[in-house]
Order: sequence, then C-alpha cells, then structure tokens
Amino acid sequence: MEKFYLTTPIYYVNDVPHIGHAYTTILADVIKRYKQLRGLRVMFLTGTDEHGQKIERSAARQGLTPQQLADRMVAHFQKLWATLNIEYDAFIRTTDAVHVRGVQKIFSRVMEQGDIYRGEYAGHYCISCENFIPDSVEETADGKRACPDCGRLTDNRVSETCYFFRLSAYGDRLLKFYEENPEFVTPRSRMNEVVSFVKMGLRDLSVTRSTVKWGIPVPGDPQQTIYVWFDALSNYITAIDYLGEGERFHGLWPADLHIMAKDILKYHAVYWPAFLMAAGLPLPRKELIHGWWLKDEKKMSKSSGNVLDPHILLRHFSPDAIRYFLMREASIGADGNFSHEGFISRVNTDLTNDWANLVSRTTGMIEKYFAGEFSGAGLYTER
Ligand code: ME8
Ligand code: MG
Repeated sequence: MEKFYLTTPIYYVNDVPHIGHAYTTILADVIKRYKQLRGLRVMFLTGTDEHGQKIERSAARQGLTPQQLADRMVAHFQKLWATLNIEYDAFIRTTDAVHVRGVQKIFSRVMEQGDIYRGEYAGHYCISCENFIPDSVEETADGKRACPDCGRLTDNRVSETCYFFRLSAYGDRLLKFYEENPEFVTPRSRMNEVVSFVKMGLRDLSVTRSTVKWGIPVPGDPQQTIYVWFDALSNYITAIDYLGEGERFHGLWPADLHIMAKDILKYHAVYWPAFLMAAGLPLPRKELIHGWWLKDEKKMSKSSGNVLDPHILLRHFSPDAIRYFLMREASIGADGNFSHEGFISRVNTDLTNDWANLVSRTTGMIEKYFAGEFSGAGLYTER
C-alpha cells in the first residue's frame, strides 16, 4: 500500500491555540481523509514546540516552569483537536525523550560530517520568531533592528560562543534542488520567494545558544543548548523513529507534505532541506504554504491580541460548521478574512440551504424509490 506522510507545524506552547492553528490542522485532517479514501496508508503528525527563549520567558511571566507551562498548554491543543474531530496518528512534543535523543543524533551526525563548527555570534535576536537578525539589517537611530520575519523592532543584542551550521555551503545545492523540483514549494509565488532569498546569499547559521537554558543540551557540550528551530524542525523525523532508523523510519521518510503558513517558509524551505542534506537524508517531497487568517481584515496573531478563540465558535456552532467554513472561505495560499457575518452566511447558505437540502432530497428519493434501503457505496460510472 502506498504511504502518505503529512505534517502540520508543531505549535508553540506560549499560549492557547487560535483559529489560525485550527485552520492548518483541519486542512491537514481533510487532506488525510481524502488520501485515505484514495486507498493510501496515511501518517498524519502534529504536535507542540516547547523549548526556547519564547517559552522560557512566557513561563517566567506566569510564574511557572517551562515544563509546567508546556504541560498545561498541550492539554488545550489536544482537547481542541479532539473537539474538532482531528484524526492525527501521532502527536510529538519536543520534550519527549525520543525527540530529545533524536535531535542530539542528527546534530552529532552533522557535526561529524563537518558542517557544524564552533564560533562566536554577535547580532540581534527576535525572541518572538526565535530568529537571528543579521548585521546586514539596517539599524535604527536608537540602536534597534527590525526582524525580517515579523517586522518587530528589537534591541535584544546577543553576543555568545556557539556552534554554527555551514549554511553558506548549501546555496548552490539548494538552488539546484529547487530547479529540479519546481513544485517543492507550492504555490509557485512562494517558491520564487525562496529562490530569491537563497540567491541573495546564505550566511552560516548559529545552531546553539549558550545563554538559553530551556533547550536540548549539545552532545558533549552541555553548556550549550540546541537552537530551537534546529530542534523543532527535526520533529518530522524524530516522530517516526529517526533514532532507530529502521523499517518504520525508512517506510515513512521522506515526508510527502509539510503544511504551514508563510511565516515559517524560510525555516522549512531553506534551513530544513540544508540540515537534511548535511545529515545525508532525503528531502521532503512537498511544502504547501497557505495564507493568513485575518480578523476583520487585520492579521490575526497572539501578539496583536485579536485572535479568535475557537471555543467561542464551538459554543454556538458544530465542529463540522467550523471545519466547513475554514475550508470553503479561503482558497489555499490566499489570505482569508474571518468575520462573524461571513461565517453565519456560509452556514446558512451553503450548509443549510445547499448541502443539507441535497442530502435531504437524496435520502428522500432513497426512501421513495428504494424502500429506504441503500446498498452501499460503489465506484462512479457513466452508466
Ligand atoms: O511557528 N492564519 O509555531 P506557531 C493562518 N513553533 N495560520 C496561522 C495563523 C493565522 N493567523 N496563525 C498561526 C511556530 N497559524 C513554530 C513552528 S514547525 C517545525 C515549528 C498557523 O505556534 C500556521 O500554520 O507560531 C503557522 O505557520 C503556524 O500556525 C505557526 O504556529
Ligand atoms: Mg508564530
């Protein structure tokens, strides 16, 4: 039986899930069900990203240890996925022992292979994106820099001994891979963005932190923890037993589909393939990049404080109505706007009038002409 391995991002546990996270996860669930109907053996992975400074800081603010915060938040994610009828096959937490050991394994492998070396990092760091801001980014008059990912200004300068990944050596190999696999990133416009990003030149990437405690220790150098993006991306292999690297792993890897929004494209389409090349592993087949959910035309994000809590919708509507609305309202890749009016109109017009009407007429005819007996599903034929 042909396999199909698909993933969502693993979500940060600094806060509870909102409708944006629900969208990606529902989309993955819908694709899973479709592939299953087509007879494929599907593996659907989701999970949570629990290490790093963002979580460390969030926990401290709430007077919790990072582990306590993670444990609380994971329960919210899992409960919401159950309510929304998400049929994932595996849920990975980056604090799981198999993940921790798997990350140490890939880190060591890349190091032995010669692409991780010791150095000094000096520059800015956006904690919200867990992103290193290169010195090439212009400084404002008051010494701040704008994060190229989120645009937020930060004066969080770090200067530390760390390990670097030789990303600069992978530019040509990445460009060749994109050229040979032009549909690796879809839609095409996102592939083009990735190509231009790589063509601008890649600098080596710091892959450890000496000033962050809440992370996976570097094998053989416990003063250092592994950079949270190196840790998080590896979930896609650690969850399918990269540690054992046996039948299960080889039967599922490479992933057929990574799904995410455009905020984390660079990590998935540039860093992740380079890490995999360095570790001597095959690259994922496809990455599907969807747009943003906006709330009343503004980007919905935890930091903007305009997120829509799915539980408010669930108080008034069924999970199916929410799933239907999210899949129907926005075409994949384009931004979608969430408005309560739009939601109610989809439920009334599409679901109640059109689909419910179709079902009711169909069952009515089954009753009338076939004595209420339905012989089951069959293949569609013209005649
Ligand atoms: O980035 N519209 O986690 P995260 C659509 N831990 N999708 C949205 C959205 C919105 N307004 N807001 C969030 C991280 N999403 C990392 C990922 S993966 C190895 C590590 C969805 O909690 C979308 O899928 O910030 C986006 O890419 C993801 O949540 C970011 O989740
Ligand atoms: Mg985010």
